[in-house]
Amino acid sequence: MSELKIVPMEVAHLAGVLEVEKQSFNDPWTEEIFHHEVTNNPFAYYVVALQGEEVVAYCGTWIVFEDCQITNVAVHPANRGQKIGDALMRHVIAHCQSNEVDRISLEVRVSNEVAQNLYRKYGFQDGGIRKNYYTDGPTTEDALVMWVELT
Ligand SMILES: CC(C)(COP(=O)(O)OP(=O)(O)OC[C@H]1O[C@@H](n2cnc3c(N)ncnc32)[C@H](O)[C@@H]1OP(=O)(O)O)[C@@H](O)C(=O)NCCC(=O)NCCS
Repeated sequence: MSELKIVPMEVAHLAGVLEVEKQSFNDPWTEEIFHHEVTNNPFAYYVVALQGEEVVAYCGTWIVFEDCQITNVAVHPANRGQKIGDALMRHVIAHCQSNEVDRISLEVRVSNEVAQNLYRKYGFQDGGIRKNYYTDGPTTEDALVMWVELT
C-alpha cells in the first residue's frame, strides 16, 4: 500500500472528496460547497489524505484568528480503522499550533461515539449540547460541542 500523504485540498481532488462525502453522510455537502470552500473562502483550510493519487479522506476547518472550527472530517468506509483519522487530526492540530490558533472546536452527533473517541484521543472535552442541530434524518438529533485548548 502506498504511503499516506496529507495535502491541501484542490479543485482536482473534488471528485474523490465527494465520493468520501457521499459514502460518509446522510446529508452530503455538494460539489458547489466544497468548490466555494477551496477557491473562495479565505478562512477555510481543507486537506485531503491521498493514497497514491486516490482521495481516501478529508478534513475541513475554518480558522479565524485564534479560533479553529473543524467543519467536517471523513474517511472512506473502505479505509477506516487504518489510523487515517488519527493522521488528519495530528495534521490539523500541528497546522493550528504553527498558526497561533489557541482553540479548536467542533460539533458531533451525540450518537457518533466513533468520532467522539477520535476527538477525545486528541484532548477534546465535552462542551454544551446544541439541541436538534441535525435535521437531515427522520428525527432530529442533538450535537455535542467539543473543544480543545492548544497550549
Ligand atoms: C470518525 C472517523 C473519521 C475515524 O476515522 P478512522 O480513520 O477510521 O479512525 P482511526 O483508524 O484513525 O482511529 C482513530 C481513533 O478513532 C476512534 N475509533 C476509530 N474507529 C473506531 C471504532 N470502530 N470504534 C470506536 N472508536 C473508534 C478510536 O479512538 C481510534 O483510536 P485507537 O485506534 O487508538 O483506539 C471515521 O470513522 C469516519 O469517517 N466516520 C464517518 C464520518 C464521521 O462521522 N465524521 C465525523 C463527523 S463529526
